[in-house]
Amino acid sequence: MTKLLKQARPRVAAHSDEPLLDIRGLRVDFPDVPGAPAIDGMDLRINRGEIVALVGESGSGKSLTALTVMGLLPPGAEVVGGEARLQGEDVLSMGSGRRNEIRGDKVAMLFQQPKVMLDPTARVGSQVAESLRRHRKVGRRQARARVVEMLRDVGIPEPARRASSFAYQLSGGMAQRVMIAAALSADPELLIADEPTTALDVTVQAQILDLLKQKRDELGLSILLITHDLGIVSTMADRVAVMYAGRIVENGTTKDIFDDPQHPYTQALLKASLLEAERGQLFSIPGSVVQARSLEHGCRFLPRCPVAAQLGITDMCRGEEPTLHTCGEHEHHSRCYASREHAEAG
Ligand SMILES: Nc1ncnc2c1ncn2[C@@H]1O[C@H](COP(=O)(O)OP(=O)(O)OP(=O)(O)O)[C@@H](O)[C@H]1O
Ligand code: SF4
Ligand SMILES: [Mg+2]
Repeated sequence: MTKLLKQARPRVAAHSDEPLLDIRGLRVDFPDVPGAPAIDGMDLRINRGEIVALVGESGSGKSLTALTVMGLLPPGAEVVGGEARLQGEDVLSMGSGRRNEIRGDKVAMLFQQPKVMLDPTARVGSQVAESLRRHRKVGRRQARARVVEMLRDVGIPEPARRASSFAYQLSGGMAQRVMIAAALSADPELLIADEPTTALDVTVQAQILDLLKQKRDELGLSILLITHDLGIVSTMADRVAVMYAGRIVENGTTKDIFDDPQHPYTQALLKASLLEAERGQLFSIPGSVVQARSLEHGCRFLPRCPVAAQLGITDMCRGEEPTLHTCGEHEHHSRCYASREHAEAG
């Protein structure tokens, strides 16, 4: 571990039972786009030192959730409800000055395309040094001296030489390691990783995931891992939140989600992933998430749900939308009338 990271501030022990990130009822809309808000009543909690995977099909709102927490909403997007508390402070209502302090110091983000995120005109070492200087208030010379150590710490061979490289001279895996070094330079509490290995080949993917896990263990980081890949989820995550059409439809421990999925959407995702693994082909769930945003009432998964008709509960599903309710031990919740608690109560 680098000297710098060893000197990192102690993780806050007070209120340690309170979640590090606590998102409640988040709503983010594109007012110029018809239909329900893209994020529409999102709840998500991440505890200290925990890896939480956020999964769901393309367009379900995973990246938008991450960008909202980072205060990096795309043009045209507006937060229209809810709160997102990071160590008790609502990031949605704070001013831009405080928000800039928090970005990096408390929460940092990794993206799918590390090479695109790096400045093509600056040497990668100076980009990590710049990040260090901005967040840790160290001088230019001191920062430069520490960069090599930091690049070594994230597994970059010949770090002194690599520090002088430009982004185009690095492989995708090396570029993501540089991004990890830059992200960790400010000693954040939470790292949001949005499909951090999707653009990498399988071997490199495994190495980057190992590095993230190692950093969680060493530094007590919390990680929000956004991924399509349920294989990655099963090896990395402590808990899983399944997102559909802008809200969470099921959450629980990784074991509960994989061994005892309660929501038909989670079941369909797992089945598609299993078929892919068995047959080496891409499987998708019939229908599309886009339909869901035009529904005004009821369960948003109804147009694609095989269970409602099987159980003869279509009218109920079409009426009021189910709430996210407890359906097992270990904080397992599902938003479906057919899942355990509702079924038992009925
Ligand atoms: N710039 C934009 N303008 C209009 N709508 C947008 C914009 N960005 C996102 N959206 C809407 O927000 C929804 C959620 O987008 P988001 O990028 O969060 O999906 P995602 O779950 O990250 O998907 P993927 O897995 O493909 O990355 C989209 O379905 C789209 O309707
Ligand atoms: S509430 Fe009804 S439509 Fe929605 S997932 Fe459950 S069974 Fe299917
Ligand atoms: Mg995305």
